[in-house]
Parts: sequence; C-alpha cells; structure tokens
Amino acid sequence: MTEYQFMKPYTFANGARLQNRIVMAPVTTQSSFFDGTVSNDEVKFYQMRSGVGMIIAEVANINKEGKGFEGELSVAEDRFIPGLSKLANAIHLKGSKAVLQIFDAGRKTNRQILRGIQPRSASAVAPHRNPDEVPRELTDDEIEQVIADFGAATLRAVKAGFDGVEIHGANTYLLQQFFSPHSNRRTDKWGGNIEKRMNFIKALIAEVRRVVAKYAPADFIVGYRFSPEELSNPGIRIADTLKLVAMLSEQPIDYLHSSMGDRKRTSLLNKDDQEELNHKILTVIDERKPLIEVGSVQTPTDAEMALNEGATLVAMGRELLREPNWVEKVRLGDEKSIRYMISPADMDLLGLPGGLQRELRTGFLDAMNFTDQKTKNFRHQFGQMEGFGG
Ligand SMILES: Cc1cc2nc3c(=O)[nH]c(=O)nc-3n(C[C@H](O)[C@H](O)[C@H](O)COP(=O)(O)O)c2cc1C
Repeated sequence: MTEYQFMKPYTFANGARLQNRIVMAPVTTQSSFFDGTVSNDEVKFYQMRSGVGMIIAEVANINKEGKGFEGELSVAEDRFIPGLSKLANAIHLKGSKAVLQIFDAGRKTNRQILRGIQPRSASAVAPHRNPDEVPRELTDDEIEQVIADFGAATLRAVKAGFDGVEIHGANTYLLQQFFSPHSNRRTDKWGGNIEKRMNFIKALIAEVRRVVAKYAPADFIVGYRFSPEELSNPGIRIADTLKLVAMLSEQPIDYLHSSMGDRKRTSLLNKDDQEELNHKILTVIDERKPLIEVGSVQTPTDAEMALNEGATLVAMGRELLREPNWVEKVRLGDEKSIRYMISPADMDLLGLPGGLQRELRTGFLDAMNFTDQKTKNFRHQFGQMEGFGG
C-alpha cells in the first residue's frame, strides 16, 4: 500500500491537530431553509463526508443584507446555533475538524434575494457582469457594523461547536470588493490606494481574533480564503494579490487558502507569465503560514503532488461530491474503487441535497464529470468569475 504524506496528521501552530491533510473545500449545497436554518439534508451530506482532516462547511451569511443566494446557510442570529451545532457534530462524526466559512456577499446579490433591499458594497459601482444592479455605498458606521457582525458570527460558530472559521475573502464577495480597485473607489480610510483597500480586511481579522481570544479554545482555527485575480478592468492583478498575501502572512491567522479551479494554473491575464500562481504565493508566504491549495485535485497522486510542490494541505470540492469515502478508500488500499465520474442516478445515494443536485445539473453540468455528459471544462476557473455561486 502506498504511504502517502497526505494521510499523515498535521498540527497547526496553535495546536489544532488534523488526522490527515485532506480538506473538504467549502461547497454550498443551497439547501438550507428559506431563513438560513440548517436542513437535515445538509447534516446528512456532511456526515457522509466526515473522515478528511478538516471540512470547511459551506459559506454562511453573517447578516441579512449580506445574503448572496437562496438556500444559503446563515450564522447571522443566535436562533441558528442549534442547527449549526448539528452540522458541527455531523462533521466530527469520523474525526474531521469543523470550520465554518463566513461571509457577506456585498454587491454580489440582488434585490430579489434581499426581498426588495438594494445591495450595498464598498462603493456604488455595479459588478461588470451585472451592470443593472448598482449597489449603494456603505457608510462608515455600517462598515463598523459589518466588522462587528463578523465577530458575532465567530462567537456563534464557537458556541455551535465549530473548531474554526474561514473568512471568505474570495470569489468577489464583500471582502474582495473592498480590496478590488473595481468595486472600491472610496477616498476615506477604507480606500484610495492598495494599503487602504486592505484596511477592511485587517480590521475584520482583528475583530475575529478578539472574539476568538476571549471566547474560543486556544486551538480554534482562523483561516482566510482569497482569489488571486479578477477579469474586470480595473481589477485585482497578481501583483496586488502578492501584496495581500504578504500582509496576510503577518496577520494572526492560522492558514491561507487560495481559491482556484485548477491549483496549477498560471495568470489568466498575463499569458506571457507561465509561473504557477501558487508558486508565486508560496514564495511570498515564505513558510510563515500554511497554505491550502485547491482546484481539480482528484486522484491520490494529484493530492500528493500538491504537497510535494509546497502546499501544506490540499482541498477537494467536486471530487468529494462524487466520492464521499475518498480518504477511507485510500486508507484501505482500495483506490481502484474511487469514483471520478458521477451518474445522475447516484446523486441521492451520495447524499447530495436537492439544491446542490439542481446546481450541479445546471451551472456545473460541464464541470462535474457526469456519466451522461461530455466534460468540457473540468479545470474550471472558479473564483475568477463574477457569476460564480459560492
Ligand atoms: C457546487 C459548488 C459550490 C461551491 N460553494 C463554495 C462556497 O460556498 N464557498 C467557496 O469559497 N467556494 C465554493 N465553491 C468552490 C470550491 O470551494 C472549490 O474552490 C472549487 O470547486 C474548486 O475545487 P475542485 O476542483 O476540487 O472542485 C463551490 C464549488 C462548487 C462546485
């Protein structure tokens, strides 16, 4: 039987110990109740995937105005804590650490989802893919409130029994909107130059950390996810992201997580530069923080390669939808039975909730390896597209 590095335990600097180095990437199931309460389908979905080192549970909104899509999980009020506890327990079933991804969608939502309320963002600039939905600019007091909401959400995650939170700074949601020169045109302390466009992120990490220091055990994990590039003009370029990564490497966080559809990808905008983005990111981190890499990892060989190339932990999204027992099969030396394709007929059997099934059969039809489809775009450029759902 092959002895893979990714099957070895990993201990974070704060003492949190993972039973192996495989992480389940956050995958929204779009199957919470109308108000954001955890559904039993979601509980079952996570129970079936416990066994990896750490599961980053799907993104949860930290306030009502930050809701990004229907069926979204919420950590915005105390009444959601009992449901979130069930989710954390489900993840713990076979020893996985439970991390909750927390976010505010900012302008990446619309008035239907917000029940008539206008979306808000760093500045009143519409997303380039949705020019009709112009957000309003957040006031200074509202920005402070959003930061406090992230802190309150962290406390709820602690109370619900999660082992950590991941601050969702990727996929063009509010944190990225503050960092992006496209969505942030402010001239106050929250914008103007790249340093100031990072102030929201810094203030938010400080608040989350304050709450963790006061209420959570010492080994509570705080992670940060970011997307390396934007296609809009102006937009985030890799040079900006490397400054962000340098800043994050000095922050009180436990890991960084680069959001990509292909962990080996190079710049989408500068085709002359063939250096892999994760290589550039690792060079800047310079071993100051663990890095989670994600994107088109399917086989044990893919996962091992990620670690050999410098990743500390390797995350999988779509592959763990197709194969909930991936880690268990590797442990048993039963790799030949790992599924790399998915039959539409097996989606119930695999515990995929209804909202997720619908999404996979529409938005992700070309990117899932369905047995009845020709996969066209498996190495999907997630996190680069304004239209991406999670
Ligand atoms: C159906 C679906 C839902 C997703 N939901 C989220 C999410 O809630 N938060 C997030 O940061 N990324 C989300 N992602 C992106 C994944 O975390 C991951 O980065 C992406 O799927 C690439 O990894 P993979 O090639 O292993 O699937 C989602 C992806 C899929 C396919």
